[in-house]
Amino acid sequence: MASIFVTGSSAGIGQETASVLVNGGHRVVVHARSNERAADAQKGVPGAAAVVIGDLSSLDETRALAEAAQALGPFDAVVHNAGIGGRNGRRALTGDGLDPIFQVNVLAPYVLTALMSRPRRLVYLTSGLHYQGVFDPHELERQRRPGDGMKAYRDSKLCDVLLAFAVARLWPSTLSNAVDPGWIRTRMGGRGAPGPVSRGAETPVWLATSDEPSALVSGRLLKDRQQLSANPAAYDQGLQDALLRGCAALSGARLPT
Ligand SMILES: NC(=O)c1ccc[n+]([C@@H]2O[C@H](COP(=O)([O-])OP(=O)(O)OC[C@H]3O[C@@H](n4cnc5c(N)ncnc54)[C@H](OP(=O)(O)O)[C@@H]3O)[C@@H](O)[C@H]2O)c1
Repeated sequence: MASIFVTGSSAGIGQETASVLVNGGHRVVVHARSNERAADAQKGVPGAAAVVIGDLSSLDETRALAEAAQALGPFDAVVHNAGIGGRNGRRALTGDGLDPIFQVNVLAPYVLTALMSRPRRLVYLTSGLHYQGVFDPHELERQRRPGDGMKAYRDSKLCDVLLAFAVARLWPSTLSNAVDPGWIRTRMGGRGAPGPVSRGAETPVWLATSDEPSALVSGRLLKDRQQLSANPAAYDQGLQDALLRGCAALSGARLPT
């Protein structure tokens, strides 16, 4: 039995991931943004060991979430699943003065990774749209201005791969990978998406728990349990380090190395 923390487990792929893990006999801590959403997370994952609360669009709440989750650890695996898409209208800056897509999709998983003990395995949810993403370290200040939502989403998903690969390089005893779940029928994916939520959860669950040799990899992008080549920018160590420096500057949390 493994102990696993799944962010964004009040809906969608995160909730399915948590449910499958609970049904597989694992100890699972789920996460929701608010008390109200925590009730939905608990209802959706009845066997969860605990629920922790924190809005990832707030740095203070993300730091408190890291502390609350840490108190329920140590974890064998953490699945950084929570995310927001580029199509919704939430484009006002967060209370920290940042683009919400960048803050929820990139800065929050960075802060949780930096402030929690190193698990044996880390899984970061990215997207096929990361291939069209761009990360320009000189443009990090751009995160203080809301721009085009889909561009922000694509860029954020490239940053998730950069983050997964950076952590894999800097923490050799942790298996850190990025997962493209495919286009999945969730609130974010929409009703017309071809993939059922079970497909979206399958590879995160497998990477979090399986001892098959093909699951014990690190610094890879996977989809449907298969390795894929990521956007070439994701392998650029200079860009990886620049992202870590930028996130440290924006959050005050330094990734221990
Ligand atoms: N669905 C797809 O086709 C697809 C494709 C590629 C990649 N992905 C990735 O897969 C992951 C999960 O997506 P999904 O389709 O399952 O989306 P979803 O159904 O919209 O669920 C997103 C989850 O993240 C949580 N979340 C969002 N903002 C949050 C915040 N500020 N604080 C705390 N929690 C927050 C949501 O909580 P609430 O319920 O309270 O909003 C929910 O639990 C994302 O990282 C996404 O980028 C999805």
